[in-house]
Amino acid sequence: MRYGAVEAVHGISFTAEAGAVTALIGANGAGKSSTLAAISGLVPATGHVAFEGRDLSGSAPHAIVRAGIVQVPEGREILARMSVEENLLLGLRGSRDAVHGAYERFPILAERRALAAGNLSGGEQQMLAIARALLARPRLLLLDEPSLGLAPKMVAAVFEILADLKRQGVTMLLVEQNALRALRLADRAYVLDLGRITMSGTGEALLHDEAVARTYLGG
Ligand SMILES: Nc1ncnc2c1ncn2[C@@H]1O[C@H](COP(=O)(O)OP(=O)(O)OP(=O)(O)O)[C@@H](O)[C@H]1O
Ligand SMILES: [Mg+2]
Repeated sequence: MRYGAVEAVHGISFTAEAGAVTALIGANGAGKSSTLAAISGLVPATGHVAFEGRDLSGSAPHAIVRAGIVQVPEGREILARMSVEENLLLGLRGSRDAVHGAYERFPILAERRALAAGNLSGGEQQMLAIARALLARPRLLLLDEPSLGLAPKMVAAVFEILADLKRQGVTMLLVEQNALRALRLADRAYVLDLGRITMSGTGEALLHDEAVARTYLGG
């Protein structure tokens, strides 16, 4: 995957198992977002994406969403001037009743439903972005740095939501700079460095790996 002369991701191969959390960790510019963008069909890439036995390589973004791969983008990308409810309805596939399910899971969004989404706190906006993605009924949820820029309390809240989703069997591919929390949650993880996978293993194994600890867990 390249941007003009810059090769962002090179020859990587990995699997996200159904019902599991797979984490991609790595420093700034490692190629994490580029990898998700390639899977979502948002940027052209060579190579193959297979999903539930189907070859999605080269498919258009809407076809990939229809196949069940839904991304929560980095920076959340909520529509600031639209209400919380309008933002949720944008994600909706199927019955409107599902929005009530979203409000049950995220009571704070129910409280704020008529408010412009731009007035929510960063953590609330992240919840909105996750809720919106869930309304699209993903069979694979892609999350790009859901904890980025959040206050510590909100980071904990977001990871609690992800742990909940994991317990419910939601398949996730999680990109995070917060390697500690990502590895604690992940069944399997891959380390991306300058566009290449340099290490992989269970979240538990990488958590206790000395090199990983030194580079990504602050010792
Ligand atoms: N639109 C773009 N045009 C040119 N180069 C880009 C573009 N987007 C990313 N890159 C480059 O591609 C490489 C991978 O970037 P990418 O955003 O995928 O990394 P990342 O792991 O998501 O980093 P971060 O932690 O900062 O989000 C970097 O060298 C980056 O500078
Ligand atoms: Mg990124």
